[in-house]
Amino acid sequence: MSNDIIKKFQEVKLLLNNNAYAEIKANNDTDYFINELIEYIEENETDNYIVTTDTIRNYQQHERQRIHESIKENPKTREIRENQETPYEITMDVTNKSYTDGDIKDLNKYFNNRFEKLKKIIQENPEYNRVEDLKNTKTNIDNLHVIGIVNSINNTKNGHKIIEIEDTTGVGSVIVLKDNEDLLESSQTIVKDEVIGVSGSTNGSLIRADEIAHPGIQRRIMDKPMDFSAVFISDVHIGSKQFDENAFNKFIKWLNGNYGSEEQQDLANDVKYLIIGGDLVDGIGVYPNQEKELKIKDIYEQYEEAGRLLGDVTDIPIIISPGNHDATRLAEPQPALTEKYAKDLCKQKNVEMVSNPSMIKLDNINVQVYHGRSFDDIVMALNGYTHADTDKIMKLLLEKRHLAPIYGERTPLASEFEDYMVIDEVPDILHTGHVHINSHVKYKGVHMLNSGTFQKQTEFQKIYNIVPTYGQVPVIKRGTMQLLDFTND
Ligand SMILES: [Fe+2]
Repeated sequence: MSNDIIKKFQEVKLLLNNNAYAEIKANNDTDYFINELIEYIEENETDNYIVTTDTIRNYQQHERQRIHESIKENPKTREIRENQETPYEITMDVTNKSYTDGDIKDLNKYFNNRFEKLKKIIQENPEYNRVEDLKNTKTNIDNLHVIGIVNSINNTKNGHKIIEIEDTTGVGSVIVLKDNEDLLESSQTIVKDEVIGVSGSTNGSLIRADEIAHPGIQRRIMDKPMDFSAVFISDVHIGSKQFDENAFNKFIKWLNGNYGSEEQQDLANDVKYLIIGGDLVDGIGVYPNQEKELKIKDIYEQYEEAGRLLGDVTDIPIIISPGNHDATRLAEPQPALTEKYAKDLCKQKNVEMVSNPSMIKLDNINVQVYHGRSFDDIVMALNGYTHADTDKIMKLLLEKRHLAPIYGERTPLASEFEDYMVIDEVPDILHTGHVHINSHVKYKGVHMLNSGTFQKQTEFQKIYNIVPTYGQVPVIKRGTMQLLDFTND
């Protein structure tokens, strides 16, 4: 036993049994924990002179009750919330829409569906009204338009780029000449399996590209001004030793109108929705040796804890979409969490479980929620892209109108009959997470936000020098973005 710990208890005439000692020693902030524990015993267990794990349990229970009392919804906030409507509609959800048995025919159906959906979007541009079938492009044709799914991208020895594309009739090789510098530059962000349009001419077996088109998005204007605020979080990672419970409790306290400056409390009172974009818990077995980083090693208990922590938010809808750490199918699209694991949360009347991705209409505002696993693939595929470049990545995904264009790499994609990862409808807000670094940019009228995390830097992140932005929460306040920081005392 370490003398320091024992001494501290001896000084106040307390003895420590072995199990209690082990538990105290395992704590992240031992000094703070000891001081708080002693204070609790002196105030509440005056007859106690042997500290056991039961004493610690009593202390933790007492602490939780104290926090719960301080977090509970402010009466003013309650009154506002009880008198307001919080209409919302889930306009896209894939839960219970999974039919694939992994057959190769399914894969063909999946890619055909992706191709047809994105081709249709490209054809909204009148130039692509009439496109040539790729099987007919082996002769010399001037001024031709084709649309295809990208099979491969290669650079030639002479500095040209060859992109092989495929439609339902055949394949074609598109050449981007090195002299066409602008096109060559813009084609650097083309990835495998996305759908593109090409205009140019054929000369023998090659299609010489003059222009490459993506499905793209039109500038978006909200149907009517947003007259409420909404909070977006993700990557809470409850159960991890690095989960910052203090910051999270402060966040809930704020949301319930009990924390922050007057202006911040007014903002809380304006919030009508809380959206959680995946990785609510840390999960189990997500990566090798994860158990060493877990404070709660049981997946059911992780969700139980999540239910407890979110249980104080009672009067606004909480919409939860899963991520790659959550207990649902790993392959995307991921169905919503169910009662099997998240029992308490599913029972909470203001909690709505949705799939990843999903589309939600909050009053009149369309929100596309996607956890962001595919960001890993984009970072791997493209030079000059890192995990901190979520704004650049989201912009690419919107232009490609696909949340996870690259098939068969790190993002497991279920080959459904329909490709639900296509961005059929352009949202007002694109909410992502996964990389634990928040960002916000408005692009063509779309709020693209990444909501950061509540998990402090992990051992893995230390190795790769990834610095998470934990405890910072984005709020869209009536159409403008605000970032609140809950890491300060
Ligand atoms: Fe995460």
